[in-house]
Amino acid sequence: MSSVLTVRGGVPLAGRISVRGAKNLVPKAMVAALLGNSPSVLRNVPEIKDVEVVTSLLQLHGVSVVKDADTGDLTLDPQHATTASSSEIDAHAGDSRIPILLCGPLIHAIGEAFIPDLGGCKIGDRPIDFHLNVLRQFGAVVEKRPGGIHISAPRGLQGAKISLPYPSVGATEQVLLSATRAEGITELIGAAVEPEIIDLIAVLQKMGAIINVQSERTIRIEGVKSLGGYVHRALPDRNEAASWASAALVTRGDIFVQGAAQRDMMTFINTFRKIGGGMDIEEDGIRFYHPGGKLSPLVLETDVHPGFMTDWQQPLVVALSQADGVSIVHETVYENRFGFTEALSRMGANIQVHRECLGSTPCRFGQRNFRHSAVISGPAPLRGTEIDVPDLRGGFSHLIAALAATGTSRVTGIDVINRGYERFTDKLAALGADVDLSTSSGV
Ligand code: EPZ
Repeated sequence: MSSVLTVRGGVPLAGRISVRGAKNLVPKAMVAALLGNSPSVLRNVPEIKDVEVVTSLLQLHGVSVVKDADTGDLTLDPQHATTASSSEIDAHAGDSRIPILLCGPLIHAIGEAFIPDLGGCKIGDRPIDFHLNVLRQFGAVVEKRPGGIHISAPRGLQGAKISLPYPSVGATEQVLLSATRAEGITELIGAAVEPEIIDLIAVLQKMGAIINVQSERTIRIEGVKSLGGYVHRALPDRNEAASWASAALVTRGDIFVQGAAQRDMMTFINTFRKIGGGMDIEEDGIRFYHPGGKLSPLVLETDVHPGFMTDWQQPLVVALSQADGVSIVHETVYENRFGFTEALSRMGANIQVHRECLGSTPCRFGQRNFRHSAVISGPAPLRGTEIDVPDLRGGFSHLIAALAATGTSRVTGIDVINRGYERFTDKLAALGADVDLSTSSGV
């Protein structure tokens, strides 16, 4: 089955949509349930592909996952966890990167894990060396096998003093999910502290974990023998909220994003205001709108939290293509996150990407042949075209560019967007977009 979205551009998006639990927390909280000796309940769960993938991976391992038909809440019962065949795991993992986070919980639950070679958005090499080094420091044995890696820990996992070379979100989650039931104390230096990380720590603390978030990106975990279940409402998806905010700017619209939380979007809100976007921050969400007139260009550098989140960059670049002047974006988290600009240039955007670090934030990619800085000149009128979605955030950026373009665009590969944006075609329709979705059997 393949879907094609026909977009007739030039219609401002206006109305109210809601965002639910964060794509970058919910699957991790589901994996955390494996650590418990009793069932857990996860609330505010979005209907996205990444949740489906983790649901089937957990069910493969004997975890029962029951979804409430009305609320979407998940009840996860890990009491009959078991091993699964590597071929089945591989068949269900899809493009998700979550399987690597099953290592610690599966070792604690059943003594071993097999992790297939991973997918994920094509925004860089996406290595897992930090994860494997962390597991080895906990005493795990990591063996490369055909199609993936096998991890075991004959003596169980032992607490360790771990220092990350970069505040990696995934590697920090790997430590948290392994250390909470490891023998002894773990000290993590150089940790990521994104809101989704803090929410995962809240989940683990509800289960009985002892985790201290200290200053200077240091997290200290005291291993405990066993953990119970949790009842947790996932924090809202700040990346989806920021994507719709950028859509409001690009289409000169007015969108109320119910569920958007100022607390998690402080840097985005400052940037949105500097470009000239209008907003009303309410208790139940945030109204983002284009106030009319011109948008202002700016210099932007992505960074780890509390800096400007790399996932916010791609939709915002489309807004910068409509700003009155020259903007610069220096992407310091991923080495190859401007691939999506090729389609924007075909639509009429004026964007050049460069190898140089065009900013002052220390960056691992300078002079290594990675085109990780972009110069955007606007305003550039956009024209509809044929688009094939490259990745999750790049795909959403193409979508909002098509919505702002004059003429019609034909967008293929939109299933990638379903990985992280719940019911996005329904939301587009609710906001007045002039779109048609056609699904062919693909034969
Ligand atoms: C998480 O990816 C998010 N994904 C990403 O969101 C997000 O962009 C990223 O964190 C940064 O905030 C999920 O949570 C599912 P990292 P993750 O480990 O954990 C390098 C989206 O659009 N690195 O913080 O994979 C890596 O290559 C997605 O929602 C290693 O070198 O990100 C990158 O340059 C995209 N070795 C940097 O660290 C490793 O073993 C940051 O990656 C791991 C990472």
